[in-house]
Amino acid sequence: DIHPVIMCGGSGTRLWPRSRKSKPKPFLPLVGETTLFEQTLARCEGEGFAAPAIVTGTAHLPHVEAQLGERDARVVVEPEAKNTAAAIALAALVLPEDAVMLVCPSDHHIADVAAFRAATQAAASLARDDRMVAFGITPTHPETGYGYILRGDRLGEGFAVERFVEKPDLERANEFLAHGGYSWNGGIFAFRAGAFMDDLQLHRPALAEAVRRSVVEAREDGARLHPAPAPFAEIEGESVDYAVMEETQRAAMVPVSMGWSDIGGWPALRDTRDGDADGNRARGSVELVDCRGVLADTDGPRISAIGLENVAIVVDGDEVLVTSMAGAQKVGKLDGASNQ
Ligand code: GDD
Ligand code: MG
Repeated sequence: DIHPVIMCGGSGTRLWPRSRKSKPKPFLPLVGETTLFEQTLARCEGEGFAAPAIVTGTAHLPHVEAQLGERDARVVVEPEAKNTAAAIALAALVLPEDAVMLVCPSDHHIADVAAFRAATQAAASLARDDRMVAFGITPTHPETGYGYILRGDRLGEGFAVERFVEKPDLERANEFLAHGGYSWNGGIFAFRAGAFMDDLQLHRPALAEAVRRSVVEAREDGARLHPAPAPFAEIEGESVDYAVMEETQRAAMVPVSMGWSDIGGWPALRDTRDGDADGNRARGSVELVDCRGVLADTDGPRISAIGLENVAIVVDGDEVLVTSMAGAQKVGKLDGASNQ
């Protein structure tokens, strides 16, 4: 069986005001009727999947437990956020060494679940051979917030990885696109638990040791595991992309076309939802006249707009956001978003 490991950590400030500290991005029904976290769970359940392990912090725990419902799951509660290398290591140490982990962010949207599942099988078979497997997405623009993967030789149903570069600057991202052999890293990985810990030990021994100690001294509380805070506090937080994927000598990649989006902001959300003939996406009580490419989203008062193009209007309780699509990347820097 494949063991899903679901990481819930981020806050999603670029989707303010809908996403708030009190109700972060994974736990909102942003696309469709269910939340991104619920959709992530649903993608990795059924035949061939073991019960998931969820790695999360105390802030997200009530949402996680409410949305897990009756599901059987292991919940690892981080004493503090130390980024994804530590989060994945916690799960790796809780699972048997030979378990194949499927590491999933909890805040992405995937339109084609069948394609995701097919890629999962291909990734798992490479992971059984101790490959560190990333999911490769065909890039469409020089995004600097993603990792880039240079394909090497064919390997099983995927490719060896020639080079993994996390978050390049714009100049390099443009070079990678022009070069052509690069995929985006989709942020979904398959590892054999023991192989992941071996690589972490090799490349970040202090991090690996600290996580080990926090698990050895952990406190059990039903289905929850509370790793010991003292050793965990010593960790220098680093993402799995830098700590393992850039360093490892045995990375592999499975290319997948599955309608992937990490919903990095309001423009991406607009492009994820089905729109009307003019490319507008409305949710809630909305009237748009002579508008194009407008995202209008309200949980209360009606939004009425005339003659707008490429604008997002979002009403959430007592907050209203109006931004051009071009400006939407700055939403997280607004006073409202930082002082929520
Ligand atoms: N439990 C836990 N603890 N989860 C965490 C933590 C943590 O300390 N930090 C981040 N996460 C979760 C986030 O909630 C998200 O689901 C996932 O791990 C990835 O973290 P992000 O912070 O969103 O990473 P990123 O978007 O900057 O970059 C990653 O994803 C890109 C694709 O969306 C990288 O893997 C890139 O290479 C990749 O292209
Ligand atoms: Mg992300």
